[in-house]
Order: sequence, then C-alpha cells, then structure tokens
Amino acid sequence: MTNWKEVDDNIKHWIKEAGTKIRQSFETELTIQTKSNRNDLVTNIDKETEQYFIGKIRREYPNHQILGEEGYGDQLQSLDGTTWIIDPIDGTMNFIHQQRNFAISIGIYHDGVGILGYIYDIVHDELYHAKKGEGAFMNEIKLSPLPSVTIQDAIIALNATWVTENNRIDPKILAPLVKDVRGTRSYGSAALEMAYVASGRLDAYITMRLAPWDIAAGKVIIEELGGTVTNLKGEPLNLLEKSPIFASKPGLHELILKKYLHKLV
Ligand code: IPD
Ligand code: CA
Ligand code: CA
Repeated sequence: MTNWKEVDDNIKHWIKEAGTKIRQSFETELTIQTKSNRNDLVTNIDKETEQYFIGKIRREYPNHQILGEEGYGDQLQSLDGTTWIIDPIDGTMNFIHQQRNFAISIGIYHDGVGILGYIYDIVHDELYHAKKGEGAFMNEIKLSPLPSVTIQDAIIALNATWVTENNRIDPKILAPLVKDVRGTRSYGSAALEMAYVASGRLDAYITMRLAPWDIAAGKVIIEELGGTVTNLKGEPLNLLEKSPIFASKPGLHELILKKYLHKLV
C-alpha cells in the first residue's frame, strides 16, 4: 500500500528543490534545442529537471511508472498501478523568453484515477496542490469549491490561434464565444492556466491539443474543487493520448458545450 502522506511530503520537498535550481539557472546560459518544429523548444534545464525527479522517484518508489515529457521515464502501455506524469517545465517558451509564466507540473494516478496534483509557479512561489477527497490548496491557503458563473461574466483562457485559420478547429466555432464572454486571456502554460481555473482567476480554459503531462496535475486539482475537465465534446480524457482540453467551472461547462461546442462533429 502506498503511503500517500509520505509521497506528498517527498514531492513537495523535491518540487521546492527543483524550483530553486531552476531559479538559479536564470544566471546561466541556456542550451536551447527545437523538437517537432522551430517553436517547440526544450532546454538543458527541462531535461535536468525531469532527470532530477525521475532519479528521486526511482530510488523511493521503484515499482511506480513514470511518464515524462522529455522521455527519460517509461513507455507506458497502461495506467495500471501508480503512475507519475511529469512536465518538468510547462511553458518552456515563456521560461526562455520571459523568465516567468511557467511551472513544474506533476500528477500522480493510481489505476487511472488522479490521486495527487501539483503545479508550482516557481517565480511567484505559488504551489497549487490537491489530494483527491482532501481538498485543494495554493500554498497553505485552502481553495474554495468552484461556483457557477454565466457566460457573460466569464474570463476564459483561449489562444488566438483557435479563432484564426488553423488545422484543428473551424475558427467560426469559438469566435462567437470570444464575443460573448467578459474577456479572454492566454498565458502560454497549460498547467498555469489550469491552476488559474482552480483558483478562480479564470473561469474556463479551452485548447486544441495537449499531452498528458500538460494536464495530469491540473485535472486532479480542478476536479477536487468540483470543476470539470474533458475533451471539447464533453467526453472523459484518455491520459495515454494527446487530446483537446476543456476545463471549466461547473455549470459553465454545460453552457459552453450546449451553445458553442455542439457544432463540433
Ligand atoms: C506547452 C504549453 C503551452 C501549450 C502547448 C504545450 P511546454 O507546453 O503548455 O501553453 O499551448 O501546447 O506544449 O512544451 O512548454 O511544456
Ligand atoms: Ca507542457
Ligand atoms: Ca515541458
């Protein structure tokens, strides 16, 4: 039986230690490489941070599986047993260009069920975390269950890409939503955007294609507060695959699905 309290203590300690190293890296020169395209960036710090977590996890929990963005973990076939899903730096482009608006994101699942979620905004020293059934917090502050909100009063996170010509969604589907809501924002870190939905700074987040490590932690935290995280058709996510993501306050989720996203085929 896993001692989740001990896992929680360990992971918080490791996240703070990794955060300190990442902050120190601001003084050093980064090695920057591209991955799938010229805007898909990775640095030596992304890689070192993932290796740091994997080293710790392998030593303490040799029977757990690890899925890490930079590929130092396992090739997962299933979510049976305990699985750590890690994005060492979510928002690498921001990390390189802005030195802010990026986060460490770690979700821990047991037999496919989200148990623990951590999103650490290193620059602001804000750790969003949740344990299933035991509440969600920002540092030591308990977060309140998410209230409902109308479309007219909502601020949603949405990248402008999705309301211009693109390969993933007809821009005509989301343009009316952009017109109807109070405002839109885009922060360039899926993990932070989900942390902001959890903490009420945003009411919803919609995007077209995220990987499991982008959303594993945020899903645990948002769901713990009564929010909903699905694909754009309102269907449950498969955490072994990439997927469009729609994270939202309760009530607003149904309203947006019914009024705008039902046009998706
Ligand atoms: C990216 C960020 C970004 C999202 C991209 C992700 P990365 O993660 O979360 O906000 O729009 O799809 O790939 O590459 O910086 O870890
Ligand atoms: Ca990411
Ligand atoms: Ca990343």
